[in-house]
Amino acid sequence: MDQLMAQIEQYKKEIKDEVISSKDELEAFRIKYLGVKGVLKSIMGEMKNVPADKKKEAGLMLNEFKQMVESYYQELALNFENAGSESTDKPDVTLPGQPFTIGTRHPISIVHNKIVSIFQRLGFSVAEGPEIEDDWHNFTALNLPENHPARDMQDTFYISQNPDWLLRTHTSSVQIREMEKGELPLRIICPGRVYRNETISARAHCFFNQVEGLYIAENVSFADLKQTLYFFVKEMFGADVKVRFRPSYFPFTEPSAEMDISCLICGGEGCSVCKKTGWVEILGCGMVHPKVLDNCGIDSNKYTGFAFGMGIERITMLTYQVKDLRLFSENDVRFLRQFTAAL
Ligand code: PHE
Repeated sequence: MDQLMAQIEQYKKEIKDEVISSKDELEAFRIKYLGVKGVLKSIMGEMKNVPADKKKEAGLMLNEFKQMVESYYQELALNFENAGSESTDKPDVTLPGQPFTIGTRHPISIVHNKIVSIFQRLGFSVAEGPEIEDDWHNFTALNLPENHPARDMQDTFYISQNPDWLLRTHTSSVQIREMEKGELPLRIICPGRVYRNETISARAHCFFNQVEGLYIAENVSFADLKQTLYFFVKEMFGADVKVRFRPSYFPFTEPSAEMDISCLICGGEGCSVCKKTGWVEILGCGMVHPKVLDNCGIDSNKYTGFAFGMGIERITMLTYQVKDLRLFSENDVRFLRQFTAAL
């Protein structure tokens, strides 16, 4: 039995040292090891000398060796086959390449890029921040102290590891981080994913994308806010779209408003998308509350500013007339492939 083992080890070494650089040498290898009178056959013959209680172990060992030799031979044979075809035929460089599919941009990305580029033309730069936020940046600094009823406007996912941590409910948290840096004037947009604990339906999801904007300088007025948003709407949806502002409430802006545009689907006639009103809401906005400026160490007697926030999904649904928000996150290529054109 030990002798058999030593023999196999010896053959393994020999196999490694074999030089096989031609088909003839490969054939010689096959005959030597795998042939009818080859090494494998002869050590198989040794089995009869192995005592009965060791037969099983020896059988396993032999089998393993056999498989090793066979797969080594097959590997070499394959190499020679491939090399053979290469040496006889020169590659035909005029043949067309293998076709491969190129993905398309996600509709949310297309609209995101367009929104960003419109505001960049007005001098806004892009700011980003973490998706896991602390209570201060997402709520308290934005004039939403603990127990403030307006916290219920945004159902929040908290992180169980630390009660102070949460998934940001809006990218206003990024605005706080930028204001805290104290570099004024400040003109930024904050695109990014936000999370709210909402029941998933055609019109709501537990996550979506926002672009929020902030402009802080001396003498910024509501007129600047309106002019900026008018410009945005005309660039985004075309010159014919009508705009209206409705008074609203946000704890971090005063006064606050919501902006509607005339329904792109029915042109203002009234349909199911605009709920027969002819108008659809696209964003919230207002003048930054002085308390928010103070919270970030900005002198609210000297500086004023405006802020706004919109959902990219909503803008995308209006642009492409998509009726169900869930399509954006289902990764169905039949849906996604439809959005190839640049806006
Ligand atoms: N942060 C608000 C939201 O997510 C949107 C908003 C931003 C409103 C800035 C006013 C000013 O609902």
